[in-house]
Amino acid sequence: MNNRTSQPNVTGQSQAQKRSGLSWQAWLAGLIIGVVGTLVLVVLIGMPLAIGHRTDLPLEKLYGSLAVGLAVKTQAGNATNPLGQNGRALEAGRNAYIGMCAECHGANGDGKGIFGQQLYPPATDLRAEDTKEKSDAELFWIIKNGLSFAGMPGFAKQLDDQTIWALVSYTRSFGQGQSGAQAIPTPTAGQLALADPAGDAVHRGAAVYFAQACHECHGPVGNAPGELGLRGGGREAQEALRRGRQGMPAYNSSMITNAQMSDLVAYMNTFPGGGQRFGR
Ligand code: HEC
Ligand code: HEC
Repeated sequence: MNNRTSQPNVTGQSQAQKRSGLSWQAWLAGLIIGVVGTLVLVVLIGMPLAIGHRTDLPLEKLYGSLAVGLAVKTQAGNATNPLGQNGRALEAGRNAYIGMCAECHGANGDGKGIFGQQLYPPATDLRAEDTKEKSDAELFWIIKNGLSFAGMPGFAKQLDDQTIWALVSYTRSFGQGQSGAQAIPTPTAGQLALADPAGDAVHRGAAVYFAQACHECHGPVGNAPGELGLRGGGREAQEALRRGRQGMPAYNSSMITNAQMSDLVAYMNTFPGGGQRFGR
């Protein structure tokens, strides 16, 4: 009897083990299918809602600014602006700002540039307390690295540190009530019509020039006032483009190919006073 009970017991045990092993696997598979299925549903139904929504969900704003504050505070360090508010820094900062920031943050820093209000969250009013309270190092870090979940681009690849500090100086000047506007001539319809990617070198060059927003800083035919005026496309001009200048982004060959560069040169050589050697 012991034998008869122990015998089935052994098989019974192993069968029970086998059965519970099976159901454990089935349970796990079910769980995985459930979780994955739910995720798929969330992605399919939830994401379009999340991407489309243009108002703050409860606590979203608070969470966003806490997350930004923390990330920036831990990354930024505590350097102070080596340029301060001196005149040359403000001028370099203004030159860079007009071409690279004003379209979002507005010519006077109010956040009302042409793209600024279309973004979510909208571009910051740089005159506000929020910006004033940030340290030099925090502003520097934000301009260099951007805020990738907001529309704020990072400029590390295009602007050297010197220019970024100049932008910090200039950003501070808004809070102090200075106005940023610089009178850069805007292109006429005729000038814009020159831009034709399928035309000859001059027309292709004009297309690159306007697409890269060179005119935002230099005017449509290099006719911006003062130091921003351009006189032509000599070798030094090409070097300035590849390397950048203080207040001017660097354009590497994936942004402006060598072929586009020679088209640009052809266009710049049509500027009033074009063909002259660069440098002054
Ligand atoms: C494509 C639009 C866009 C451009 C171009 C842009 N920004 Fe921004 N910027 C934003 C947005 C959007 C934010 C974040 C708004 C938010 O988080 O609420 C932002 C945030 C900032 C902040 C943080 C302000 C704060 O108090 O938190 C600074 C400083 C700043 N930008 C400076 C600049 C400078 C300088 C440039 C030019 C080199 C520039 N931005 C170009 C859209 C832009
Ligand atoms: C954000 C503003 C900005 C943009 C955009 C910009 N530049 Fe500049 N550029 C500058 C500044 C500032 C300088 C330096 C001016 C100075 O102090 O001599 C400069 C210098 C130059 C120079 C050298 C001029 C000289 O006298 O040494 C050339 C050539 C030039 N830019 C062409 C271009 C072209 C072409 C584009 C578009 C692909 C462009 N820039 C885009 C601001 C800009």
